[in-house]
Amino acid sequence: MSAPPIDRAEAERLDVANPLRGLRAAFEIPEAEPIYLDGNSLGRLPKATLERLTGLIRDEWGRDVVRGWDAWIDLPGRTGDKIASAFLGAGPGEVVIGDSTTVNLYRLADAALQARRDRHVILASAGEFPTDRYVLQGLAEARGLELRLLEPDRVAGLQVADLVGSVGPETALVCLSLVDYRSGAWADMAAITAAVHEVGGLVLWDCSHAVGSVPIDLEGSGADLAVGCTYKYLNGGPGAPAFLYVRRELQDRLRQPIQGWFGQRDQFAMGHPYDPVPGIGRYLVGTPPVMAMTAVEASVDLLARTGIGALREKSVALTEYLIRLWRTSLEPLGVTLGSPVDPDRRGGHVGLRHPDAYRIDRALNERANVRCDFRAPDVIRLAPVAAYTRFVDVWDAMDRLRRLLESGESLEMPGELTRVT
Ligand SMILES: Cc1ncc(COP(=O)(O)O)c(C=O)c1O
Repeated sequence: MSAPPIDRAEAERLDVANPLRGLRAAFEIPEAEPIYLDGNSLGRLPKATLERLTGLIRDEWGRDVVRGWDAWIDLPGRTGDKIASAFLGAGPGEVVIGDSTTVNLYRLADAALQARRDRHVILASAGEFPTDRYVLQGLAEARGLELRLLEPDRVAGLQVADLVGSVGPETALVCLSLVDYRSGAWADMAAITAAVHEVGGLVLWDCSHAVGSVPIDLEGSGADLAVGCTYKYLNGGPGAPAFLYVRRELQDRLRQPIQGWFGQRDQFAMGHPYDPVPGIGRYLVGTPPVMAMTAVEASVDLLARTGIGALREKSVALTEYLIRLWRTSLEPLGVTLGSPVDPDRRGGHVGLRHPDAYRIDRALNERANVRCDFRAPDVIRLAPVAAYTRFVDVWDAMDRLRRLLESGESLEMPGELTRVT
């Protein structure tokens, strides 16, 4: 077995020098392993969340019971405003949380298609996260539209140039991820939005892998619509409610397809017919999951105190370090980089590609105690999350990966996919 080309002591020095070194203590982290590099799938539990949820259950639900709604009713908008100002570059009254990213994507895409019903093309990327493609496919079938899937470069992701010749007066909606779930490629939101606006289309951004990992400026970029997960970099917990954003001047012009009572004017007048409130409130649907939303708010409060600027700075340092380690110890072993080299075009995770990626990922998880995941056909995703990952974690994970490859141990792993990868 060869010696690691970069010394672990350097990682230790980087940890000591990093201004966010203390933030890790705000999370529940078991003393022992594993090394956790899967925070882009499910973020870690903040200690503050545990306290807030315990208080909510005992003191609010337990004591106040139904009167708790006097305060809970504002959670979707209040938490939405906090995410908007801390992470999305959006204003108050432009974001709410509720439902899943899939459901929000469906509702906003449908609203956009209704507003552009004189046009017949929806554009997306063939490499887009599956749920987005499935939702768009269903909408296209239901409305008799054409879903056009572009084939951008797998590593660099969609560029404005890819849109030229693809968008036109027939384009109703373009739906794209801001940070690609596999490669981590960070799209140019302002330039792409401008190109679609030029032909009169609307753009819906899926910010699931971007929120909390890169600075986002929805207002400054002229974005129309956006959705995203809160259980990844925002650490809202498994299945945490997603956010949705509608640009202020579009809010009353669009009509979402689910007319629920939480969007109704004078909700408790129980009136008829449906008459939605003005503003972002009309994008609410039904009773919000209070416990799940409280968990999102607790974590957002914690991260907002650090700020996306500092989080991003550490994130870039971590992924740059990971890529340096890849270059010196893994590239010679046949592993290629599946993410953009330029940190200004890369989100918070790094994809490493190998023809045997699935078995290597399994060996990392099951033999080497490194939590990371596999995305078909050949990508191992590694997410060193700024809030709680240390440089030594990156060093140790990459060293274990190098050892697995050198020993050939991953070849002993079964090749059939597990239920969750
Ligand atoms: C880009 C993207 N969109 C959507 C989702 C999932 O949405 P949902 O929470 O509705 O399952 C994911 C999950 O990883 C994702 O990466």
